[in-house]
Amino acid sequence: MSNLSFDDRDGTIWHDGEMIQWRDSKVHVLSHALHYGSSVFEGIRVYGGNIFKLTEHSERLVESAKILGFKIPYTVEEIDAATQKVVDENNIVDGYIRPVAWRGSEMMGVSAQQNTIHLAIAAWEWPSYFDPEARMKGIRLDRAEYRRPDPRTAPSKSKAAGLYMICTLSKHAAEAKGYHDALMLDWEGRVAEATGANVFFINKDGEIHTPLADCFLDGITRRTVIDLAKARGYQIIERRIMPEEMGDFEECFLTGTAAEVTPVAEIGEFTFTPGEMSRQLVEDYDRTVRGQALEATSAA
Ligand SMILES: Cc1ncc(COP(=O)(O)O)c(C=O)c1O
Repeated sequence: MSNLSFDDRDGTIWHDGEMIQWRDSKVHVLSHALHYGSSVFEGIRVYGGNIFKLTEHSERLVESAKILGFKIPYTVEEIDAATQKVVDENNIVDGYIRPVAWRGSEMMGVSAQQNTIHLAIAAWEWPSYFDPEARMKGIRLDRAEYRRPDPRTAPSKSKAAGLYMICTLSKHAAEAKGYHDALMLDWEGRVAEATGANVFFINKDGEIHTPLADCFLDGITRRTVIDLAKARGYQIIERRIMPEEMGDFEECFLTGTAAEVTPVAEIGEFTFTPGEMSRQLVEDYDRTVRGQALEATSAA
């Protein structure tokens, strides 16, 4: 990815219904979203010019806003069309799309009943360097201090910017210690997810276990990978997983739009060896996002 700052690039951004120059897409400092966290967003990938699961992402964006109590003034179909336009006008082939919706500036206080709801969509080239061998080394995760909140404490089903405050804190703390990311527990001390991706484990019997998505995002990639695993005949078990159980698992991987399927080698004191099932799912996901048919199982 380019090192250019994200406010200083060529291209166009869809902003409240208009395609405007990239550098002109601005918000006022007295926007409610900046002060009170009233914004929701999406992260979407483009593979070979095709947007993966576009409508699912647009639907989740609208739903995330609804959970935060505001209505995006565009339909899912209009958001889909606007997103496609951004990709086309910016000639994105392999890239990332960031739609964001937020409360504007009319009222400045906790109450924001009259505030205009804004929507912007930006996209940039971000190739997915698919090198199975590099991926199979697995990434290293620290254990995060912060926990995913109780759904009675925060709107945990919304992809709301405010919920990422503890993700950035946790990721920074992990990076400071030389890790790639951090695993967060939930409010009850069960395994939850990484700072921007869901987590899966494989035990010695070849069963895939993943935490129930009851207080964090049930990722679009998570659901795709569950379907791919089932199509391979793998058993998927969604359940509550305690952190000490991580010692019983042989393999671990993360799933997310940005992470795709990323094997994990280490979470704190626990180690994993990415194996054939992880490799199969990495490859199946890669073929799926590129619209290619899946290959027969390679393992003998
Ligand atoms: C906190 C968090 N969990 C899970 C996910 C995975 O979601 P998806 O697969 O829909 O990208 C993401 C990424 O959006 C995330 O930020």
